[in-house]
Amino acid sequence: MSPIQLFDPASGSYTYLLSDPATREALIIDPVDSQLERDLTTLERLGLRLRWTVETHAHDDHITSAARLVELTGAHSAAPAGCAVGTAAVQLHDGDTLAFGGQTLRVLHTPGHTAGSVCYLWQPAAPGLPAQLFTGDTLLIGDCGRTDLPSGDAGRLYDSITTRLFTLPADSVVWPGHDYQGQTRSSIGVEQHSNPRLAGRSREEFIRLIEALQQTPAPPRRADALLANQRSGLRQDAGTALPPGQPVRPALGYAGDVSPCTAHAWMRAGRAVLVDVRTDAEREWVGFVPGAVAVAWKQWPGMAPNGDFDDQIRAAAADGQPLVLWCRSGVRSVAAARRATELGLTAYNMLEGFEGDPDQQAQRGHLGGWRQAGLPWRQN
Ligand SMILES: [Fe+2]
Repeated sequence: MSPIQLFDPASGSYTYLLSDPATREALIIDPVDSQLERDLTTLERLGLRLRWTVETHAHDDHITSAARLVELTGAHSAAPAGCAVGTAAVQLHDGDTLAFGGQTLRVLHTPGHTAGSVCYLWQPAAPGLPAQLFTGDTLLIGDCGRTDLPSGDAGRLYDSITTRLFTLPADSVVWPGHDYQGQTRSSIGVEQHSNPRLAGRSREEFIRLIEALQQTPAPPRRADALLANQRSGLRQDAGTALPPGQPVRPALGYAGDVSPCTAHAWMRAGRAVLVDVRTDAEREWVGFVPGAVAVAWKQWPGMAPNGDFDDQIRAAAADGQPLVLWCRSGVRSVAAARRATELGLTAYNMLEGFEGDPDQQAQRGHLGGWRQAGLPWRQN
């Protein structure tokens, strides 16, 4: 029942995986894009089905993998309402709860590090276990988050920590969003009495101290990270439709990336087989490309892996032609292209997929993709 704590050394960030033993449903807090493979492997190894991916705030020092986890696992995304993450499926307010199996996570709005920052409180549904508090960058071990982000406010941070967090039971376990000294967890009682930023300090003293400490440099690429995180971690070049004939981009673990226009040209010239790796449901309800072969990578509902993928993809390449794999927005197809490459096939990934990435209103179809490029498709 303990949270699983996962670490990203490059940014010093912690990600937490919470699960319900009875149903194997899980929730992940603050996943990091460069750790996507590790997190997927962890879910698979533990036999967990991801229900939610949630953020404590819009980070400025790493990029979330939320959008990719949604695409690859069928999880839903949730983010604090005050963080302008327009792509999150659920906007969270103070007191809201998220359920995974028989477990409940509660939202505590704790502005200060950013105006929208939240902490999450989990009281495991098992006797005798203390509350588990995920503090993001609001409260760290012997420290607290910076307040020099655009919406940061040292006075509000002091109020959040002292009136919302330090009023929780002293044995509540504190799981921070970062640590740079190898520390992993603390408790409300310990932080209340020994955190050098806070213990025995008035609000005014705290503000003076925090403002003096923030003379240290801000994380590199802060603005880029904030922008990407306000789109659940989607890459910033996704809005640019790729020109026709764009040269193949080399890629790791498969033949390369091509634009939808190049994929279409290759199909028409008989140079490649187009393979649609989306679910049967997406083909049925969203639309399909005449002439593309259907080999699902995962199937809805539940996004269970297609156990026949290897045989079906080999059959698609039976005449020795290269394959161009595509999905909704180009995430699943990368995983599928890597697998096809492991099987000895020549597999490309089509960038942007059928529908492209979601826009600021979480609508697809306006930011790249096969349909936006005006290429042929049909709907049942
Ligand atoms: Fe942060």
